[in-house]
Amino acid sequence: MSAQGSAEGVVVAIDGPSGSGKSSTARGVASARGLRYLDTGAMYRAMTWWMQHHRIDIGDAAAVAEAAGRPDITMGTDPAAPTVRVDGTDVAREIRTQQVTAQVSAVSAVPAVRERLVAMQREIIAQARRSGGIVVEGRDITTVVAPDAPVKLYLTASAEARAHRRSGELSGSDVAAIQADLARRDLLDSSREDSPLTRTADALELETTGLGLDEVIALVVELTDRAAAAAGEAERSAAS
Ligand code: DC
Repeated sequence: MSAQGSAEGVVVAIDGPSGSGKSSTARGVASARGLRYLDTGAMYRAMTWWMQHHRIDIGDAAAVAEAAGRPDITMGTDPAAPTVRVDGTDVAREIRTQQVTAQVSAVSAVPAVRERLVAMQREIIAQARRSGGIVVEGRDITTVVAPDAPVKLYLTASAEARAHRRSGELSGSDVAAIQADLARRDLLDSSREDSPLTRTADALELETTGLGLDEVIALVVELTDRAAAAAGEAERSAAS
């Protein structure tokens, strides 16, 4: 069974804290089912990179809000090679630096930034639904961006597991320092006023600490197939 059980493609919404395995899971599921893939964290990172590049004072929320409409951010949604461009420049590497990571929570707490990026995300989702569907990951996908998605997941893992996963991504880094930084960002991302990271009752919580990536992907693929089949069934009975 493919994920294209209905005319409108499926939307898989995945939220969770940093290091919970969202990105690898989302890309794996999208690749397995021929869906598009959107990393919304990369959009907040791209916005932060642009603010730094243009010397906007990130401590000044009004200045950030005023500049939020200026960068031209474009996302490539192929799960095999996702891209992020700002004003035509590929910033895939730049947005992963410590300099951006240190300030992205502050930038993403500004409502004008969220308003613009959420509108772009909904546009990308609407387009992708017409060509099979999409897996979207972030912090507010199940709550704000796509609350009607047929598959809504909240991924978690222990603080230690998350820090170890991140340290594997950033070679030669200090696990204790990474764990402290993840805790700092978790707190900022879940305590901000606008769209905090939170699990809603209708999102399925997946605790991934003891699971391998392939197991998590297989589980989410199964949920995706079921949702696509149910949507196809509903369409057929509505048409008959
Ligand atoms: O997933 P990530 O670590 O690349 O995300 C970077 C930051 O972006 C994260 O600290 C919070 C913010 N973010 C957000 O506020 N809303 C989203 N949907 C995705 C990310």
